[in-house]
Amino acid sequence: MASSVRFSISIAGLAVAGILLASSPAPQSAAHPDGVLLDDGFAITNQTVIDRCSRCHEVDDGGRMSRISWLRKTPEGWQTSIRRMMALHGARLDQADAVEIVRYLANEQGLAPEELRPGMFEIERRSDDHDWDGDSDVEYTCIQCHSMGRVMTQRRTKDEWGLLIDTHRALYPLSDWQAFRYTGPASEQDDPRHPMERAINYLSDVYSLETAEWSAWAATKRPARLAGTWTISGHEPGKGPMYGTMTVTADPSDPDVFTTSTSYVFAESGEQVQRSGRSMVYTGYQWRGRSNPGGSDELREVMFLERDQQKMWGRWFRGDYDELGPDVSMTRASGGAVVAGVYPRALIPGSSTDVTIYGAGLSAAGDLDFGAGVTVGSAQTTNDGTLRVRLQVAADADMGGRDLFTSGTIAAGAIVIHDGVDRIAVTPGPTTSRVGGASFPKGYQTFDAWGYNDGPDGQPDTEDDLELGRVDASWHLEEYAATYGDDDIDFVGELRQDGTFVPAADGPNPERSGLRNNIGDVWVVATHGSGDAELSARAHLVVLPPLYMRWEPWAEIDTGRRPIGDGQ
Ligand code: HEC
Ligand code: HEC
Repeated sequence: MASSVRFSISIAGLAVAGILLASSPAPQSAAHPDGVLLDDGFAITNQTVIDRCSRCHEVDDGGRMSRISWLRKTPEGWQTSIRRMMALHGARLDQADAVEIVRYLANEQGLAPEELRPGMFEIERRSDDHDWDGDSDVEYTCIQCHSMGRVMTQRRTKDEWGLLIDTHRALYPLSDWQAFRYTGPASEQDDPRHPMERAINYLSDVYSLETAEWSAWAATKRPARLAGTWTISGHEPGKGPMYGTMTVTADPSDPDVFTTSTSYVFAESGEQVQRSGRSMVYTGYQWRGRSNPGGSDELREVMFLERDQQKMWGRWFRGDYDELGPDVSMTRASGGAVVAGVYPRALIPGSSTDVTIYGAGLSAAGDLDFGAGVTVGSAQTTNDGTLRVRLQVAADADMGGRDLFTSGTIAAGAIVIHDGVDRIAVTPGPTTSRVGGASFPKGYQTFDAWGYNDGPDGQPDTEDDLELGRVDASWHLEEYAATYGDDDIDFVGELRQDGTFVPAADGPNPERSGLRNNIGDVWVVATHGSGDAELSARAHLVVLPPLYMRWEPWAEIDTGRRPIGDGQ
């Protein structure tokens, strides 16, 4: 019922907003090569786009299609548009068509690497926000309902920025009241224009359809060549550093598709992980993969391939709980040696420690040079290709990071020599979690405690401080006393000893005064060491209501294995 009401509101709204499109079957044109920008719009040559979309999106004699030709988006952005076409406007597409259309549009009307870089956090589904150094009034207007990442990952003409705002008004009539009126910051007094008009003008300047970055990328882009072995160096909150390798194999039938076989180990616990998966690379550099598909441990992989095709970085996450999963960076290991990391990494003068060197192409016979004050015992190759070696640190070794030289490669800051943990810090800093479980998924948050040494100057918080990596900690919550008799700590949830905050259930709580929801704010406190040496640090955690408006129910385009629109 609710959905049919929404449907009729939106159609009426769209008519009022004047966004209706030509409905006559349009002439077809294939006279232009893919992705050619004609007079400010892209000629569309993919026959599936023309067949499936021209019923409503008119094709002009330059081969441009109304609306579609004046936009550039990420694969996720195009996917969202197509999902809306299906859900609200009755466009009918099968899975194969949807996959082909998203791929064509993301490749021919996508974002250049330098355009996407600042907005990657949106696609990596990071719960913590971004740095946006643009106009703060525009930001204020646009972040009422979603992150600025939504905006930063699109490019449009001025008309199209305007039409987008009309669509917001039509689909979400509340947007006028919530954000698009004169409710904004004080600087409006100096600028009499409507906040929306300002936003449109501003966005069409900074996120315009035609850019030097896109024309340069469009000229050189081609399928990425990724086959081979890559080393993995990652960090998963609550679990610490992870190292391993991924073998990437080309799919002979499709230059943008790869199969993967991945193995890695969590260095602290020794837990071994094996995965196999499949990925597609969009726009020549945007990796979208999925490993152990269908399993309870399935992970989605969102990575950014650097232009030299030697490095990829991004996030792997669960999808049902986007907030769970590691940050990952991968380096191509084409024949030569690559060091992914050393664990343990933080060593004390006068000590002797067995460390593991992770990476690919490492040889026990090659020399291992950790610099002054570090004596290297004989190295052994383990059966997973890592090296195990005993490092002896001289009692008078200088404090600081040491680069590792081995087999013709250098790993900067591979180990760090320090004389103890002087302070700890909790990551992420101030952050949020969301109650859930009854009608919405819980939004977890995982904390880590990091150790620091004050460095040679002996002063805390100065530039020579040494970061020592994740340290053991015990965890508890403390009240963040915002009001007299504040009792949030009794309701918001539980902090596990691995640093994971498990929020309480959503919905009104009969045990709480005023039947309040289990929301509130608390300190998350980590304690390291004991007695005189005890150190602690804390982070402010705000426990919010569930994310009622979830923009994108998970449906997949990445490998074409799942029906589009699932999970709705
Ligand atoms: C049954 C009619 C219909 C069909 C078929 C249709 N669309 Fe649309 N499309 C619309 C309407 C109406 C709008 C304007 C309202 C909106 O944006 O939802 C629109 C808007 C759009 C926009 C602009 C959204 C934005 O970013 O602001 C894109 C992109 C788009 N359509 C893509 C497609 C693609 C690709 C297809 C083919 C797979 C398609 N449409 C098929 C009706 C249709
Ligand atoms: C009242 C809440 C609200 C406000 C305020 C708002 N948005 Fe949105 N916006 C939404 C919703 C909901 C969606 C999801 C639409 C969907 O997924 O189909 C969305 C989607 C978008 C998209 C992706 C749409 C597409 O089809 O590609 C862009 C871009 C966007 N908003 C830009 C903006 C900008 C720019 C502003 C500020 C001028 C803004 N939004 C302010 C609610 C809002």
